[in-house]
Amino acid sequence: MKKTVLVIGSGGREHAIVDALSRSPQVGKIYCAPGNAGIAKQAECVDIKVEAVEALADFAEKNDVDLTVVGPEAALAAGVADTFLSRGLKIFGPTKAAAMIESSKEFAKRLMEKYSIPTGAYVTFTDYAPAAEYVKSRPLPAVIKYDGLAAGKGVVVAATYEEADAALRDMLLDASFGKGKVIVEEFLAGPEFSFMAIVSGENVCPLAIAQDHKRAFDGDKGPNTGGMGAYSPVPFITDEIRDRALNEVLIPAAKGMVAEGVPFTGVLYGGLILTADGPKVIEFNARFGDPETEVVLPRLESDIYSLFEAAAEGKPCEPARWSDEACLGVVLASEGYPGAYAKGARIEGLDDVEGRVYHMGTKLDPEGNVATAGGRVLMVTGRGADLRAAHAAAMNDVERIKCPTLFHRTDIGRQALS
Ligand code: AMP
Ligand code: GLY
Repeated sequence: MKKTVLVIGSGGREHAIVDALSRSPQVGKIYCAPGNAGIAKQAECVDIKVEAVEALADFAEKNDVDLTVVGPEAALAAGVADTFLSRGLKIFGPTKAAAMIESSKEFAKRLMEKYSIPTGAYVTFTDYAPAAEYVKSRPLPAVIKYDGLAAGKGVVVAATYEEADAALRDMLLDASFGKGKVIVEEFLAGPEFSFMAIVSGENVCPLAIAQDHKRAFDGDKGPNTGGMGAYSPVPFITDEIRDRALNEVLIPAAKGMVAEGVPFTGVLYGGLILTADGPKVIEFNARFGDPETEVVLPRLESDIYSLFEAAAEGKPCEPARWSDEACLGVVLASEGYPGAYAKGARIEGLDDVEGRVYHMGTKLDPEGNVATAGGRVLMVTGRGADLRAAHAAAMNDVERIKCPTLFHRTDIGRQALS
């Protein structure tokens, strides 16, 4: 009997997960809730919101789903894994308590302190005045983080004291984020990389390393976004650095979670900076990164269903096998993103591309055409013998996609290509 899988989410990450599952010889039927216009070509999309955890469990039960794979943090925060587990349904994703490694920066910082995981020094504040005083006493740039989920916008790296003060006011006085805590962190200098692993208790199965590009515009200019492009592998992360990151960060984090009584099942994502003293943690996420997943999973040669299933059953998984080819992806985003943007613009040329295009925010318009439906709209990926070839392939396909309201970066991979 082939397996039936439900993927929860509607972005490029979920499209890449669905795409990888569709390559598994074990997998028969794939559902995706709620999915998008691109995912609909590879899976049956079901109209259930990611936070509607009881409805998702009802669906999984009724449709004999063998395994559910969770994409977004919002579903984890709504307790999707807790609900599925309490109903005896197999799920790949952490419980709400384990997902605190992402949702609470203070929890993550305490874990790192207790288990000697390298990260920047920090101080927590709940009141504006002492926070402002502290920041003024420290060198610039100031790193200020809102402690809670803020959709990637809760981090300000301020180059001036004015900018730092505005961020503190915004987070602690104006409560536009909701009443919360702020962490002021040591600034870490060095290139960033994303290191994800499939984790099940103390079992850690590392995935290929990727690099994201957080800023909106070329040259790493403009505001922070969810990510404007990514590539894998990352040539300046040597095997030695990778092994250090695995042994000093991901394995102790997984073991620490077990020791704390909140064992982690799912993808543990380390957002790391390679400092002069070695890799240090900027943040943990409790899920696949987006857009990193769209360049990592196409390189996976192992059967992803086996990896997910082993983890969901608490078993160690076989080491994953990877293609030597490089994969690089460019995000096409709606003008205005990460601020306000328009939706509903028609996208043409999607059938003319050669590589894989993962849909991040699309839907079918009333005439049945693919249209923009989000800030980040498409992740156009290219593959090649090296990153330069992968970049050329991706940019070739970017040129073929026509939509008047989309913009993109042209320099994805710049740190590796220069
Ligand atoms: P985050 O949302 O935590 O990934 O942070 C967004 C971006 O802010 C990161 O990708 C980094 O570029 C930057 N950042 C966060 N924390 C630090 C830090 N301690 N030192 C330097 N840059 C940081
Ligand atoms: N690309 C960063 C993230 O998924 O949080």
